[in-house]
Amino acid sequence: MSSVRQGGVEWKVYNAQGKYRVLVTKTLVGDRWIRELENAGCRIEVCQSREILSNQQIAEAIGDHCDAVIGQLTEKWNDELFGVLKKAGGVVYSNFAVGFDNIDVAAATKHGIPVGNTPGVLTEATAEMAVCLTYAAARHLLEANKYLIEGKYKSWLPDLFLGQQIFRKKLGVIGTGRIGSAYALSMVRANLMDLVYYDKFTNKKMEEQLEQFNQYLKQIGEKPIQYTNASSMEQVIREADILSLHPNLDSSTYHLMNAERLQQMKPDAILVNCARGPIIDEVALVEHCKRNPGFTAGLDVFEHEPALAPGLKELPNVVIVPHIASATFWTRSAMATIAALNIASILKGYPCWSSGDMTPFVGEPGGSGEAPSQVPPQAAPSILNAKELGLQFLQPSKAAL
Ligand code: GLV
Repeated sequence: MSSVRQGGVEWKVYNAQGKYRVLVTKTLVGDRWIRELENAGCRIEVCQSREILSNQQIAEAIGDHCDAVIGQLTEKWNDELFGVLKKAGGVVYSNFAVGFDNIDVAAATKHGIPVGNTPGVLTEATAEMAVCLTYAAARHLLEANKYLIEGKYKSWLPDLFLGQQIFRKKLGVIGTGRIGSAYALSMVRANLMDLVYYDKFTNKKMEEQLEQFNQYLKQIGEKPIQYTNASSMEQVIREADILSLHPNLDSSTYHLMNAERLQQMKPDAILVNCARGPIIDEVALVEHCKRNPGFTAGLDVFEHEPALAPGLKELPNVVIVPHIASATFWTRSAMATIAALNIASILKGYPCWSSGDMTPFVGEPGGSGEAPSQVPPQAAPSILNAKELGLQFLQPSKAAL
């Protein structure tokens, strides 16, 4: 296998004779994505650096001829960069992420470039990490682990690392899209929690599932749980024993949890964020955690990744992990496959998939996404600006497999 140096870093080249030049700005997971691109006639150049590439490095790698790019959420895909891609003959970009706050989609549309993302396949993995962080924060897991490893455990003690019990407490969720509702259902069902959630829309599907759960609880003689679609975000913030944030990041959710709203939370509440860092004012959070030692936070994402707000990592009441919520093999390989199929399908002139269900492309979660039993539909799985660009959609009758 050959490699090339561009933008000051090394790029491994697959299928060197391929007709379309596709850049991939990080090594992805699994290898089905490479096969999908090779089958579409692509020459694939994969950046070997594990550092964040600057826009200048990406522009240099794009050079004067590039058909498509799979990029990362750590890169700023702005008007200028899409302009460089367009000038080089680029016809499609896909993020290796469901979130797309790193992309100026309107600018891509202006340049006529379809923008893909990788929805659906991150739902369970991300919800599971929010669950992990909730328990870890509630029971001082990391602090207790460190105490033990440092040789401080001398005796079982009645008051050693007293934590928060979760069972039958009130769960607050802001944003009940795919991930927020998967988290809510998981926590409510496991811990018989009441739920107060805030979303612009009533989540009918989630409420139906909660209703069915209540029927089951009645059958086994347990008290039903209560659930409410709150009339305001403040209601959720005030009432929740555990508050998990799941909105998209945009100008309306930037610093949604600021000093004032943190102050409205119960002093011993747990705050979880697996969405995007800037949803929380991180400096205000550090102050809040210092002033309220009984308050805990579990964070997968940070305001200025990879940097952390001063003082954050020294706080005993904060559990932090480096943006790994979707990091399971199945999810990351499924994301790679969807990103590759976004690229391959647009290059082949296929229409766009009209449903958010990604299983026809990657199989069921937990299965072997690397070798799906079905041939994927002839469609681009998820193109964010398909309508704006007037792209065709696969008709539902043809989409039914
Ligand atoms: C991960 O954070 C994603 O948006 O895919």
